[in-house]
Amino acid sequence: MLAVAVLAAGKGTRMKSDLPKVLQPLAGATLVERVLASCRALQPERQILIVGHQAERVEQSLAAHGGLEFVLQQPQNGTGHAVQQLLAPLQGFQGDLLVLNGDVPLLREHTIQTLVETHRASGAAVTLLSARLADPTGYGRVFADGEGNVSAIVEHRDCTDAQRSNDLTNAGIYCFNWSKLAAVLPQLSSDNDQGELYLTDTVAMLRPAMHLEVADADEINGINDRIQLAQCEAVIQERLRRHWMREGVTFVDPASCTLSDGTRFGRDVVVEPQCHFRGNTRVGDGCHIGPGSLLENAEIGQGVEILHSVVREASVADHCAIGPYAQLRPGTQLGPQCRVGNFVEIKQSQIGAGSKVNHLSYIGDAELGAGVNVGAGTITANYDGVNKHRTVIGAGSKTGANSVLVAPINLGANVTVAAGSTLTKDVPAGALALGRARQLVKENWQPPSRT
Ligand code: UD1
Ligand code: CA
Repeated sequence: MLAVAVLAAGKGTRMKSDLPKVLQPLAGATLVERVLASCRALQPERQILIVGHQAERVEQSLAAHGGLEFVLQQPQNGTGHAVQQLLAPLQGFQGDLLVLNGDVPLLREHTIQTLVETHRASGAAVTLLSARLADPTGYGRVFADGEGNVSAIVEHRDCTDAQRSNDLTNAGIYCFNWSKLAAVLPQLSSDNDQGELYLTDTVAMLRPAMHLEVADADEINGINDRIQLAQCEAVIQERLRRHWMREGVTFVDPASCTLSDGTRFGRDVVVEPQCHFRGNTRVGDGCHIGPGSLLENAEIGQGVEILHSVVREASVADHCAIGPYAQLRPGTQLGPQCRVGNFVEIKQSQIGAGSKVNHLSYIGDAELGAGVNVGAGTITANYDGVNKHRTVIGAGSKTGANSVLVAPINLGANVTVAAGSTLTKDVPAGALALGRARQLVKENWQPPSRT
């Protein structure tokens, strides 16, 4: 039997934020979501989140995450005090308790699995993860012999100068035999620099206590301030980019691009500098993205080119070309082989195959058939100041430069709209529509002379 407890009650004073620390985002997921994900493969019987500071907000953020129990720690008197809150809910529980600090988001699933397996194989009372850090400032130091037996953990602020030179640091990830831990938890004292109850003090009370050193020290990075948050973001971004480069994506300048866990690429995608992929964005084979583009929850087909553009909650079918300087807003659906050019904004609209919206247009709440040519500066006037209305343009139609289509309006197939028209009425298929003042020409015009 395995229970997992995530310590997420602390305020995160050093973040200097209104947001509880465990809700800070890293590559689009919160710290606590990442910590929970790192033990998913273990399929624990129980998953307990210890909450305290802004408990409701933390709980709400995990509303979609099934199978969580929330235990309140009030006030927050240290990590040992946090785990003491489990004495009641875990009374009689027979098995191991995996304790994860809520601010250690880079652990790999595999590492946690190895920790639990090692713990079970050795029969230790506690096994904890450790690493040798180049700069262990702020972390607890692990004192252990050559066989991996731990005698004690001493917090950085409680260390003597000699103890501080020990670079073996405590990750804040422990696998305990629950009944043995439960027996010593009530004995914790607050006799330390912070006057708190430290979970780390239980390690000296439990025998045998073992540690497992992780090879990749980055995995145990804890986040106490925004500098560490940025360092962890850099580690995650590097992991994501390396993963996708191995899968066949070219990054021309990898360090200038950011990804999210939910980003997916096909093969032979080229990503130019300064591109950002957020949420669940999918990019098909052979696309060429960037430079300078932002894609968020976007669905991009194959062979699409996107240059200096923003695509959000929109889908783009195969072989479209977008930009430079286009914005596809939520609800935009481009059919295959469309062309969207500079200074064009499209929202809540379906654009048929092969249609072109090449210059300076706003298309909102519209449905365009296939092969429509939207002239430069064409605007769908979709908003009457109160309600939004739809514009429909049939296949093969052409709008002249600077035309305004006042919605609701329906243009049939193969309609031609004269340049400079303002149309307020429906136009049947095959018609030419003019909606502008007739041109007046006065021949041999004599300008007035000075009096
Ligand atoms: C802790 C460890 C330290 C380790 C480091 C690894 C202790 C005493 N020290 O230090 O040995 O090297 O993590 O990152 O455990 N929390 C609560 N309730 C509380 C206090 C904290 O739930 O009353 C939670 C926090 O929200 C956080 C986690 O416990 O997620 C760790 O607390 P934090 O104050 O960051 O501990 P560190 O000083 O980093
Ligand atoms: Ca910490």
